[in-house]
Amino acid sequence: MSYPAHRATTRHLGAAYPFAVAEGLGSGGVVVGHDVFGGIFSFDPFELYAAGVITSPNMLVLGQIGRGKSAFVKSFLWRQALFGTRAWVVDPKGEYGGLARAWGVAPLRLLPGGNLRLNPLDMPLTSAQGLSTNEKARRRGELLAALASASLGRAVSPEERSAIDLAVEASGSEPTLPGVVEAMLDPSEESARSLHSARRLLAADGRQVALELRRLVTGDLRGMFDGHTTPGIDLDGPLVVLDLSALYRSDALGVIITCATAWLQAALGAGDRAPGAGDRAPGRVIVVVDEAWAVMKNLAVARWLQSSWKLARSFGVANVAVMHRLSDLLSAGAAGSEQVELARGLLADSETRVVYGQAPSEVPEARRELGLSLTEAGLLGQLGRGVALWQVGGRSFVVRHLLSPAEQQMVDTDAAMRARPPNGQ
Ligand SMILES: Nc1ncnc2c1ncn2[C@@H]1O[C@H](COP(=O)(O)OP(=O)(O)OP(=O)(O)O)[C@@H](O)[C@H]1O
Ligand SMILES: [Mg+2]
Repeated sequence: MSYPAHRATTRHLGAAYPFAVAEGLGSGGVVVGHDVFGGIFSFDPFELYAAGVITSPNMLVLGQIGRGKSAFVKSFLWRQALFGTRAWVVDPKGEYGGLARAWGVAPLRLLPGGNLRLNPLDMPLTSAQGLSTNEKARRRGELLAALASASLGRAVSPEERSAIDLAVEASGSEPTLPGVVEAMLDPSEESARSLHSARRLLAADGRQVALELRRLVTGDLRGMFDGHTTPGIDLDGPLVVLDLSALYRSDALGVIITCATAWLQAALGAGDRAPGAGDRAPGRVIVVVDEAWAVMKNLAVARWLQSSWKLARSFGVANVAVMHRLSDLLSAGAAGSEQVELARGLLADSETRVVYGQAPSEVPEARRELGLSLTEAGLLGQLGRGVALWQVGGRSFVVRHLLSPAEQQMVDTDAAMRARPPNGQ
């Protein structure tokens, strides 16, 4: 039986067969792997941004456990280095050591009682970012409110937010967490007067927040974020890895990742002397937050992260957040709530989405939020390890990520599984 011939433009055909008529991104960049519908797939967020194909270079990498999200990110950073791109990684599982070794750098290991301290209240000292004193205070206040909200498990009240802002103001030009906590527990007459309040009342307003933040200063997380940044940290290499694996099981993992990310973004301040850093030239940088679900699920933190992403874009940074599923982002608020809108904003700010296999229960939400066609959504439940649906600036590709033997060693996270005896003991 033969069918009558049908003629259509590739534009129209593309709607019916989204992958079969794609012709790649056409912007060069590093090779990621095979487009499963033919050809090599390469990608460079900076070039696509410069070419106007995408309006933000940020990426979201989604997928079930063990699908190859981190393996892709590691090899992508490795390949991008050929083009002089540097990478900074927040590594909650301590799995970027192989990549660091290949690069000849040692990860910065953060642990309670260790000898590395990072001040999350550091701010980039660069003129490039043009941050006024007021802006710095506002951003510090935002970060502290996000940390407090994550710890308290609720939004901070307007009174608490005022208490935070006044404590930041009272803590000088280079504040530290202990200084801010002290200023909240025992506010000055001047701070109280500025709110037409009394010291006792202002202290009561800020007490719950101060006690939560105190955990970072005197509690089980002591020694990591409670003072000025350890001097002389080498940030000049092509790769900086912040290894947080000693804290992976902590119930404060979200707060820890947020503090680490805040410091890292300050230290990134291109061009000038950033806290703890030497003089560095600006350049293309990819900032990765692996296991980002731990921070995204708290919307105050997601809000803070989103504003940091916006700031980072102005000095050539592409952010990559790695998560399991969209519901990590969207489930924190009721449909239509401000929180969900904020999560959608973050999604819109990441115009490149690399979506690995999803559980069937996640597919409808992914379809709705990512604007997938039925064909694309149908694929999500079937993608094998190392194969992802790529959405780049409104276009879709299915890409099999290829690893060289050397890269395979660098990205292997299955070693621990293989080392386990067969009975699983
Ligand atoms: N494209 C690929 N080809 C071959 N092997 C791969 C590929 N991608 C990943 N793997 C292997 O699969 C294993 C799991 O990959 P990876 O650690 O990247 O998963 P993940 O999605 O980050 O999981 P998790 O959510 O647990 O962090 C690794 O040992 C890696 O070597
Ligand atoms: Mg991973």
